[in-house]
Amino acid sequence: MAEYGMKVIIFGATGMVGQGALRECLLDPDVERVLTVGRSATGQHSDKLREIVHKDFTNFSDIAVELTGYDACFFCLGVTSAGKTEEEYTHVTYDVTMAAAETLAKVNPGMTFLYVSGTGTDSTEHGRSMWARVKGKTENALMRLPLQAYALRPGYIQPLHGIRSKTRLYQAMYNVMAPLYPMWRALIPKYVTTTEQLGQAMLVIAKRGAPKRVLETADINSLH
Ligand SMILES: NC(=O)c1ccc[n+]([C@@H]2O[C@H](COP(=O)([O-])OP(=O)(O)OC[C@H]3O[C@@H](n4cnc5c(N)ncnc54)[C@H](OP(=O)(O)O)[C@@H]3O)[C@@H](O)[C@H]2O)c1
Repeated sequence: MAEYGMKVIIFGATGMVGQGALRECLLDPDVERVLTVGRSATGQHSDKLREIVHKDFTNFSDIAVELTGYDACFFCLGVTSAGKTEEEYTHVTYDVTMAAAETLAKVNPGMTFLYVSGTGTDSTEHGRSMWARVKGKTENALMRLPLQAYALRPGYIQPLHGIRSKTRLYQAMYNVMAPLYPMWRALIPKYVTTTEQLGQAMLVIAKRGAPKRVLETADINSLH
């Protein structure tokens, strides 16, 4: 664990959660370098930012050298299960995550790996909800790798600082929710968080660890 001069890899940095994580990394003086791995670049610019545009998200062996020497990975890549078969959803959720994590475990054994799953994830892998089973299977498999793996299970996430969801319908909901967020935060603090709080919690875990390997929204909000 590196408290200063930390080097962080972010997957999914073009997404809503990933943009939040990237913003907090770029603002944190303890983070020396950030590497994003995505299907496209983020459009952000900073002296400490490097970006890899990668094609095959089931195989990272050709970029393993560039992934070497990092302290933490913030894995924010993910998709909604809506409209997907279990096989399709498993491909992006399980296969892609494990391909990245297995490569990272080889080149940076013991690194901190933060996986963003979601509230309601099913650790038994046998429940009725397809997405929850697949996320549970992914969390469980990550915990078995030679990594310091943590699963973050946020509930509702309010995007801040101009961060936008790529899904139009979700962004419309966030626009409606924005002025009401302080009220939800006061009424149901255990179920809501923000992109800023989530990104900052990731940095706290990367620097100092966390008391649990699976963190629900309330745990995320308690990390400063
Ligand atoms: N948003 C929420 O309120 C919420 C709540 C709880 C949990 N989560 C979880 O947080 C994670 C991120 O959610 P989000 O809201 O940030 O999603 P998002 O805005 O849709 O971003 C998804 C990210 O994943 C990347 N991605 C998706 N499919 C990919 C693929 N096949 N290959 C490579 N990259 C791919 C996207 O890259 P491109 O830019 O190339 O598409 C993007 O960077 C998900 O696992 C989600 O379940 C979200």
